[in-house]
Amino acid sequence: MKFAVISDVHSNLEALECTLSEIKKRGSDKIICLGDAVGYGANPSECLAIFRSSVDVVIMGNHDQAIFDIPFRDYFNPRARRALEWTAEVLSEQEKRQIKDFLPVTIDQTHQVTWAHSSIHEPLDYHYIFTQEDASPSLEILKTNFCFFGHTHFPSLFSAEENKSQYLPAGIYQLKKNSRCLINPGSVGQPRDKNPKLSFAFFDSESLKLEIVRLAYDNVKAADKIRKAGLPEYFAERLL
Ligand SMILES: [Fe+2]
Repeated sequence: MKFAVISDVHSNLEALECTLSEIKKRGSDKIICLGDAVGYGANPSECLAIFRSSVDVVIMGNHDQAIFDIPFRDYFNPRARRALEWTAEVLSEQEKRQIKDFLPVTIDQTHQVTWAHSSIHEPLDYHYIFTQEDASPSLEILKTNFCFFGHTHFPSLFSAEENKSQYLPAGIYQLKKNSRCLINPGSVGQPRDKNPKLSFAFFDSESLKLEIVRLAYDNVKAADKIRKAGLPEYFAERLL
C-alpha cells in the first residue's frame, strides 16, 4: 500500500492544491491527513471541501478541536486564538460537524501503521515531539512498527532501536523491517524548519520506502489572502 501522508494544512489552499496535484501525478493508494486541517490560513472552507472529496483518513488536531471546543481555545496564544475565532465564524455548521468527525489516534489495521496528530501516550494533551526524550513515552506504548504524527511542523524521525532522532530533508529513506519509529512528514500549510517549501511524505508499507517531498508553491498568494482576511500579519510572514 502506498500512502501519501500530509499534515498541518492549516487552511492553506495554495499549498494543499499543489500537494494533491503532486500526489495525483505520482500516484498513491490512500491519502492520510494527520490533523490541523484549519487554523492560521484564509481558506478553511475550501480546504475542508478538498478533504471531503480527496482525503481518505483525517486525524483530529488541536486547532481542529478548538473549532468546536470553545474552552480549549484558552490553551492557544492570542494570535492563534484570533485565527481560530475567525475560522469558527466563517465555517458553516455542516463544516464544523465535518471537523468533529475527524478521528482520534488510529491504527491502520491492515498495514500496522499508527496515525496521530501528536504524542500517542496522552493524545488529548497534544504534547510536542521535538526530542528523543519527547518521543520515548509514545515509542514505549506504540503497538505498530511505524507511527506518523504531525503537530511540530518539522520533518523528522525518532527511532526506538537507535534511540536517536534525525531531521529529514527531502529525499528517500529506506526503513528497516523490524524497526519501530515515529515519523513526522512536516507541514503542508505552514512549514517551520526555515524552508518555505511545503512538506509531505510518501510511505510504501511493503518496500518500507519513505520519501519526504518538498515543493515550492504560491506562498505569496497564500500570504496575501491571510492579510486580506484581516488575520495576524505574523501568519502571512511565516509562510514566506
Ligand atoms: Fe499544526
